[in-house]
Amino acid sequence: MKVDDVLPNLNNELKGTKTLNELENIIIKYLGRNGLIHDLLTKIKNIDISQRKEYGQKINNIKNSINQLIEQKKTELVNKKNEETTVDITLPGKRFPKGSLHVITIAIEEISKIFQKIGFIRMSYPEVDWDFFAFETLNMPRNHPARDDFETSFIDYPENKKWGKMVLTPHTSNGQVREMWRVGAPIRMINIAKCYRPNWDPTHTPMFFQFEGLCVDKGINITHLKGTLDYFAKEYFGPDCQTRLRPHHFQFTEPSFEMDITCTVCKGTGYLRTPEVPEVAAGTSGVLSKTKCKVCKSGWLELGGCGMVHPAVLKAGKIDPGIYTGWAFGFGIERVIMIKYGIEDIRYYYNGDIRFLEQF
Ligand code: FA5
Repeated sequence: MKVDDVLPNLNNELKGTKTLNELENIIIKYLGRNGLIHDLLTKIKNIDISQRKEYGQKINNIKNSINQLIEQKKTELVNKKNEETTVDITLPGKRFPKGSLHVITIAIEEISKIFQKIGFIRMSYPEVDWDFFAFETLNMPRNHPARDDFETSFIDYPENKKWGKMVLTPHTSNGQVREMWRVGAPIRMINIAKCYRPNWDPTHTPMFFQFEGLCVDKGINITHLKGTLDYFAKEYFGPDCQTRLRPHHFQFTEPSFEMDITCTVCKGTGYLRTPEVPEVAAGTSGVLSKTKCKVCKSGWLELGGCGMVHPAVLKAGKIDPGIYTGWAFGFGIERVIMIKYGIEDIRYYYNGDIRFLEQF
């Protein structure tokens, strides 16, 4: 490199230097033992003797300038590095998003507590169970539609001679005979578990939760069933909630009922209310309008099935139906939450939309 090109070249190189490591390489290139300055000084012997002094001074001046420029660049790079690594401890910290319990989990806790208060034991029986507990011991004949492939998902597993096929339980009633076998009588059980049915619409999902009550003792009758369900409805939906039983049919209860509660929107009137004064919200006060309630149309909402345990089921559970009687019910957890909060589509629970889940 020519003597006059050294400083312009260095300036150019320093402009593109971003790190102290890169700067170190430049120092070696210009000032190192075999660097450019050393190179230029060794050439002094080729210079005419009369010009050697001037040449030597020039190289020295260049060397000083190089030192100065490199020192400046070093300070600049060190300052920049310090800025990047300095932590401002006065800045507010990063907050991680806070999670919350899923609405189904909250309801399971709430329902469990309501029944535990009156002496019911919380159980969870298998979600994958034998046909024997899911159907056979529940007095359901072999040709019952619920035992069909269209209604129940069967597991691809060898059939057992005694227990039959393996199924994804379509209801929590599989826990009835299991609990009878476990404790005999008396029984006060609340069984909460996942259930599976091949359905998918605004009120049905392929996987859902049921809670099943079972009470077996001497002298148990329908009034105990009605009283317990009434207690549950008032605790869960509020003290104004009323209940009624409608005749129905289940293989494993006799008699069987559907239980209804008064509509949480129209308070059981079946009609919307119009406010007497504009600032009074409809549904809480005011006079009845002629418009039917859009949620229930009749004042009542269906909650689920119940009834007196069929003697055949007690026998399968090794309990003498001549001495003991019992009642059972099975309700959908998603359904009771939908009624409580006015949720229109069951699929909100499971599509993972945080905006929905955050509300509970
Ligand atoms: C039964 O499952 C009976 N085992 C209930 C029972 C137990 C009756 C004990 C008598 C004695 P049902 O098929 O109606 O009944 O279902 C009960 C509730 O489960 C329904 O009211 C509904 O709330 C809920 N449910 C049923 N299928 C689905 C589904 N695919 N998705 C969401 N919830 C469902």
